[in-house]
Amino acid sequence: MTQETSATNESIAAVLARQRTEAEASRAAAAVGAAGSRFPEVPRGPLEDEQTWRQVRDLFTIDPTLTHLNVGTIGSAPKRVLDLLKVADYDFARRPRDPYPPTTMNEPRAVLAAAYGCDPDEIAIVQGATDGNSRILNGLDLGEGDEVITTTHECYTMQAPLNLLHNRRGVVVRKLTPKLGPDQSAEEIVEMFEAAITPRTRVIQWAAVTFTVGTTMPTRALAELAQRHGLISVVDGAHLPGQFALNLHELGVDFLSGSGSKYQCGPMGTGILYARNKVLPEHNPLPLPTFWPVISLWYPIEGELPPRTTTREPTYDIGTFVQKTGSADLSRGPALQAACEIFQTIGQENIQRYVHGLSRHLKHRVAEHWGESALFSPLHDERLHCGMVAFQPFRNPEHALDMNRFVEFEQRMEDEYGVNLRFTFFPVQGSDTERFAIRLAPHLYNNREEIDHAVDSMIKLTEAMS
Ligand SMILES: Cc1ncc(COP(=O)(O)O)c(C=O)c1O
Repeated sequence: MTQETSATNESIAAVLARQRTEAEASRAAAAVGAAGSRFPEVPRGPLEDEQTWRQVRDLFTIDPTLTHLNVGTIGSAPKRVLDLLKVADYDFARRPRDPYPPTTMNEPRAVLAAAYGCDPDEIAIVQGATDGNSRILNGLDLGEGDEVITTTHECYTMQAPLNLLHNRRGVVVRKLTPKLGPDQSAEEIVEMFEAAITPRTRVIQWAAVTFTVGTTMPTRALAELAQRHGLISVVDGAHLPGQFALNLHELGVDFLSGSGSKYQCGPMGTGILYARNKVLPEHNPLPLPTFWPVISLWYPIEGELPPRTTTREPTYDIGTFVQKTGSADLSRGPALQAACEIFQTIGQENIQRYVHGLSRHLKHRVAEHWGESALFSPLHDERLHCGMVAFQPFRNPEHALDMNRFVEFEQRMEDEYGVNLRFTFFPVQGSDTERFAIRLAPHLYNNREEIDHAVDSMIKLTEAMS
């Protein structure tokens, strides 16, 4: 194939793509405007109101004999989301058609962008935070001796691709262990990162919420730290969508992944990848870092992309390059969109206030029975609070370090009390031995009665196991 033919072929593809994208863009804009009105049965009142909460609970299909307190691992999709998945998959099986149109996912991306506070060109729907983390790290220009500062409390889905970068390209990964427990503070976390920066540091990476103990890291302050030192910021935001009223621009970070199947209650195998694609000096004045969309059907087959913008106007749509990865899953994107629209209708601030209220109640009940020092989660610095609570339930210090007891505890809570929770394990400062914790993560489909049932059951079980 000559250079000329391939250039001609590519320009035909590009013309087609532009035509279809322009047509779709106006439909997507209309859909975003109408978002919320698609789900008239979804209540809008405060979730603390018993009747409103019941109506919200009815949107879900969770087995009434189960108290699901593990949204930190997986949420439960509303019935409407599950129906939509099924209908879309059936429809596509009944009348197979082109799964590769350049416009795939424009509407879901536009709706998610509006909900999460960014623009559609900066967001792609991916298979989950795992997928997002890996694509972000592997898309950075990092080489021998470049340093990434991270923590020992990152999910394995971040630690594994970091180690891959180390083994493959000689990237140096420096892991910090944060202080845990009721007295941890946002300032100490920022100081910990700042003290670790060296002239070789290129990236700082953190989880917006740690899955180990449920600390909401001070993301905006860490983004400002990165900016002051000219560093790239990479955030594992698995637990953000659906839990927090988000504004990705205001966070000021370069990259962020999010899970669609946890707090957002979208289908399994969904998530988002956010990549800053323009310079908004009020949020992050640094130039855009080089970013290679490592899995992309839409990356040019010859030639290069234009230089990245230095202004508020993007020079290209990075989200589309990340979005196009082959025979797109045409049901999951719209189903994630539906989950997000349902949450937007209920009100994301409403959900955040309610869920964080449940976990505040949970923390106080844990502190009341086991004492504050049993908590690994933050307590006094409200800025670090989130929906997840992790604590150590055994009074005997030997039991506290015995993993088998935590395995048994998790299992018996489900078998004997119908409560789904999990244990986590993680390093702590000043010790070579990892600690174990019981972690509970309520969501909008839980209520105070369930929290009290879980706490009362844990009290009985720890006594039975002591
Ligand atoms: C902090 C964190 N990051 C990433 C993941 C993986 O999320 P996903 O299932 O969306 O890939 C998890 C899962 O528990 C997590 O807790």
